[in-house]
Amino acid sequence: MRKKIIVGNWKMFKTNSQAIEFIKTVDSKVKVNKDIIAGIAVPSIMLSDVQKVAKNIVISAQNCYFEKEGAFTGEISVPMLQDLKIKYVVIGHSERRDIFGETDEMINNKAKSLLAANITPILCCGESLETYESGKTIAWVKNQITKGFAGIAEQDAKKIVIAYEPIWAIGTGKVATPQIAQNVCKEIRDIIKGIYNQEVANEILIQYGGSVKPENIKDILDQADIDGALVGGASLIEDSYLGLVNYKG
Ligand code: 13P
Repeated sequence: MRKKIIVGNWKMFKTNSQAIEFIKTVDSKVKVNKDIIAGIAVPSIMLSDVQKVAKNIVISAQNCYFEKEGAFTGEISVPMLQDLKIKYVVIGHSERRDIFGETDEMINNKAKSLLAANITPILCCGESLETYESGKTIAWVKNQITKGFAGIAEQDAKKIVIAYEPIWAIGTGKVATPQIAQNVCKEIRDIIKGIYNQEVANEILIQYGGSVKPENIKDILDQADIDGALVGGASLIEDSYLGLVNYKG
């Protein structure tokens, strides 16, 4: 039985004080459950403070750089995250790829640096509307996954969480139907089986992201190959966040 992992991605929303307030209000209401991981990926400036107040919610970063230290103005390193005991980091989000020019090679290096530090990468993949409409989703995602996992050994690969986020469903209110999401997540599991083996494919966690809300999370997470959700907008409001992580499966 694979766990479910439901992570809010706050992107560039909220101030430090608002974030602390949010976590203080919500943390004790998150139903602790060995089968569900409830997380929030916060902007890096608030990681330290938020980490101190979160007991049930697992705090994640939204990005990191792969070098240990150096002249990389504005970046945060894996050792900095380790020092704060951060356990998850989102890498390769489509906004990082599209707006900040991140390449598959950079994302692969980030994954390797995180794994070496025992931090779980949440590695995002997903296609544009144009790619989706031209029927090239699987080829696109296969390329991203193959390059993202390049040179990563089997025992590390199964620790990575994959987030499938079709760009056309992000922040648009246009959710992929549970069936579409399931089909792609199943294909992703097959891609992992092709690169590694059945065991890794069985163990690896695959999230869906794109307009997930309390109203649709159950239908999405009921799908056989979907093990969680990465949620933007609906994770920013307290009640809505609780509706996501405390959903009744
Ligand atoms: P929305 O849930 O706002 O569509 O965002 C999805 C996302 O990008 C999560 O990483």
